[in-house]
Amino acid sequence: MSIAIYTKNKKQSQKWFEALNSNLPNETIEIYPNISNFNLVTFLVCWKPEKGLLDKFPNLKAIQSLGAGVDHILQYHTIPSHIQVSKVVDDNLTHDMWEHSMSIILADMKNLHIHSKNQKIKNWKPKRYKRIKDISIGILGLGTIGKYVASQFSNVGFKVNGWARSKKEISNVDTFIGKSGLNSMLSISDYVVNILPLTKETAGIINSDFLSNMKSGSYLINIGRGQHVVDEDLLSIIDSGHVRGAALDVFHNEPLPLESPFWAHPSIVITPHVASLTHINSVYPQVVENYRRVKNEQILLNLVNLSKGY
Ligand code: GLV
Repeated sequence: MSIAIYTKNKKQSQKWFEALNSNLPNETIEIYPNISNFNLVTFLVCWKPEKGLLDKFPNLKAIQSLGAGVDHILQYHTIPSHIQVSKVVDDNLTHDMWEHSMSIILADMKNLHIHSKNQKIKNWKPKRYKRIKDISIGILGLGTIGKYVASQFSNVGFKVNGWARSKKEISNVDTFIGKSGLNSMLSISDYVVNILPLTKETAGIINSDFLSNMKSGSYLINIGRGQHVVDEDLLSIIDSGHVRGAALDVFHNEPLPLESPFWAHPSIVITPHVASLTHINSVYPQVVENYRRVKNEQILLNLVNLSKGY
């Protein structure tokens, strides 16, 4: 049995190697492509595996995503049912998603981007701001992260609604399901925060139909995946003025290509996929535990439901 690490970033792979090696000193742990025997690898720890990578490991028993999403694994690979796939569930990551979306919303409510532009041209221009108690937030996706984000927003005084595949009970948060539920939620939300997992069902969900059902003058925050959004539809609805703007942290192609019209758009705020970044120190214990579980033929922590795709 051995462990293979795959990321596209050498430093990152090395850090994972060190964390795993110091906690599993008797195991063979190698960084792809320097694998001495592909047949021995049972546990693959990875982020964005290249197409066909999994076929190189004929005896794999488990795949550990190094992030909360697993779309980067499932998009290019069909996983046989005997292989368990696990995602990271980490309180820090979850909380970071809330802090990021909260920062975007407060900055927008208090016009910080406008004041910052005015400062550059020495323009003293007071502008009315918004108050938390008057604002409704709609959360798309009520998994571990979505539920937490919804509760946190509610705890600080926002009105919060949420939409998910199935009905969820979250105190002080109204939840919606189905297409008509989605439209109801969109029609009352001043800010829509996307935290959906990327699956066949959710790809392209933020299209012109969705966007035209958003409340007039509302604002989109995408911290899910770029593939949830039909980019041209987003640009045209913002240009029409119906949706006031968007803060985008994730994109179809990352890094965002220089020619993307998003970069220079005055109503779009771009962040480089930083809503939450995995910190090895807080995440390695669950990876180590999962390896132990593979060895003992147990069910992994934070197991992904392959038929749902998250
Ligand atoms: C980041 O995008 C993650 O999936 O953790």
